[in-house]
Amino acid sequence: MTMKRRYLHAHQWPYAVSTLELGAMAQARLPAFAWEYIAAGAEEESTLRANQAAFQAIRLNAQPLGGVAEPALAIQPHEHRWHLPLAISPTGYNGLLRKNADILLAQAAAQNHIPFTLSTVSCNSLEEVADAAPDGERWFQLYPFADENITHDLLRRAATCGFETLLVTIDAVTLGHREWYQRAFKKPGKLFLRHILDTGMHPRWMYQTLWPSGLPGLGNLAKYIGADQTILGALEFTDSCFLKTLAWDHLAGIRKRWDGRLYVKGVLTAETAMRAWGIGADGVIVSNHGGRQIDGVPATIEALPKIAATRPSGGDVLLDSGIRRGSDVLKAIALGATAVMLGRPTLYGVTVGGSDGAARALQIIAGQLKDLMAQLGIARIADITPAVLR
Ligand code: FNR
Ligand code: LAC
Repeated sequence: MTMKRRYLHAHQWPYAVSTLELGAMAQARLPAFAWEYIAAGAEEESTLRANQAAFQAIRLNAQPLGGVAEPALAIQPHEHRWHLPLAISPTGYNGLLRKNADILLAQAAAQNHIPFTLSTVSCNSLEEVADAAPDGERWFQLYPFADENITHDLLRRAATCGFETLLVTIDAVTLGHREWYQRAFKKPGKLFLRHILDTGMHPRWMYQTLWPSGLPGLGNLAKYIGADQTILGALEFTDSCFLKTLAWDHLAGIRKRWDGRLYVKGVLTAETAMRAWGIGADGVIVSNHGGRQIDGVPATIEALPKIAATRPSGGDVLLDSGIRRGSDVLKAIALGATAVMLGRPTLYGVTVGGSDGAARALQIIAGQLKDLMAQLGIARIADITPAVLR
């Protein structure tokens, strides 16, 4: 009898060898609706697929016998030294995956000396994350609110709690149509019966997420919108609170209020990047929101070169959407990224293994990158150039 190829079971996550395997493990652990919340892309999911396909389409130049035994992965973009050229992207409603998932992700990032970004729509609050990961480099992602007082108060709290860099997300003034997620709900906050039954089939998730106090609320926003908003109906609710008319003037205003570094997230063209530099941004994040917003926009690795060409001295160009392997990191850096960010890979990890699981996702990607650099004879991240690409 031939044994079929298969991934390990979810409880074997410490032995996962790829982040795709961690994804399959997370899918097994989560009820279908929660899996669709992280996995689904917008509409036909063509941008979601393109994010990974575009990385795979780029071929590498073999450069054998480079004589590098121990490539170094650390970078120092500014005052902090990062041990890996990675950062964790902001993701909302992480408490749907595991209790205190924001804190667990922040701790995994701190352990690996890389930045963690807390979303506006997180379940743990700015204050809780600062207390639980005091030594980590913490970034805050802002969705500007229609009610300006909320925006200003969030900025004040983020600064008080030592969040150093602000990411303003510009690609989600209204939420994309993630149809596979929407299909689980009869109406906002109300799952179809078959999804309620499916949830009952996932006792480990119920224990790791719901026990003992049920679904969490929105830690950052409870004081403005009432604590009774749980995350199930919150997607629609918070969407309705965001500033739909967000414009460059608002970003210029935020720039004036925020003393730390400011990055504009959701940049896909050189024109948008120029506007961001124009309002005084310190960085842009080339992102299509992991294929969750406009279906049909390009893969980020395709958009990167022209954006990187606009970089002023001292400006950072980060990239996310579709990074799953060390080779993806290398390709992005070769095409001009300072570093890359991860959304889903660390979510898979935190789902199956908490903080250690998220750290496992980071270490898998770091290990792949290091081995690839050794094979290509590249000693340091700064030595990754377009010459590594065919
Ligand atoms: C996101 N993303 C996101 N972005 C943001 O600015 N604020 C947010 O609250 C969220 N929420 C969110 C939830 C979930 C479940 C996902 C998967 C993504 C987008 C995120 O920051 C990042 O751009 C993508 O996840 C990157 O793509 P990959 O790494 O998931 O392919
Ligand atoms: C998302 C929102 C929260 O992508 O940004 O789900």
